[in-house]
Amino acid sequence: MGILTVKDVSKTYQSGSRKLTVLDQVNFEILEGESIAIVGPSGSGKTTLLGLCAGLDAASTGSVILNGEAFEKLNEDQRAAVRSRDVGFIFQNFQLLPTLTALENVMVPLELKKRKDARSKAMELLEKVGLKDRMTHYPTQLSGGEQQRVSIARAFANEPKILFADEPTGNLDTETGEMIEALIFDLNKAQGTTLILVTHDTELAKRTDRIIQIKGGKIQEESNG
Ligand SMILES: Nc1ncnc2c1ncn2[C@@H]1O[C@H](COP(=O)(O)OP(=O)(O)O)[C@@H](O)[C@H]1O
Ligand SMILES: [Mg+2]
Repeated sequence: MGILTVKDVSKTYQSGSRKLTVLDQVNFEILEGESIAIVGPSGSGKTTLLGLCAGLDAASTGSVILNGEAFEKLNEDQRAAVRSRDVGFIFQNFQLLPTLTALENVMVPLELKKRKDARSKAMELLEKVGLKDRMTHYPTQLSGGEQQRVSIARAFANEPKILFADEPTGNLDTETGEMIEALIFDLNKAQGTTLILVTHDTELAKRTDRIIQIKGGKIQEESNG
């Protein structure tokens, strides 16, 4: 069995009296160590799908099984425990905590796991992403690219089995975006992490093992390379 199984998953949002079906009976399976790109037009449900796969949100129907745990059978606390153990998430808009320094932001997931070496581990990760001399900066004192590097360090702090990245380079200039890309793929290789990323960037998508295209709530698989 794969590290992630998505089986007959649908997601419907209620907006007023209207029902909006964003995902319609989606099926796929991802193997450990694979890298996947999810592509599709704006509003096609990419972020929704990523959220369901990461256990941030629940499917309307169907099953999402991550590393042997079926999210639909778990309550919110249990889903949070699976996320903390197995999942890293890089958001498009970074989502750093504004009142914490770069170092403290990276320490959060480590402290949640009660790791005694939280501080030294966080420092090591920030050094890896090239932010050795930015550790005591607050998010507002950092550029977009630097904030995204902090969020990457935070995502890798758990040594996640699976890393989700939602348009990780979407808000960055080309050069910074390329650096962030390289960093994600390097860390992915170094730790053997399964990588699932949403992107508009066809060049970035081509670097992954497989592309999943969403359109009209359905998915189409495309082979890659
Ligand atoms: N919480 C929500 N409530 C209602 N509609 C939502 C919600 N989240 C997303 N949507 C709608 O679902 C569709 C897919 O959104 P999203 O997954 O963000 O697409 P993408 O990431 O591909 O741009 C959009 O039409 C969006 O407006
Ligand atoms: Mg999105």
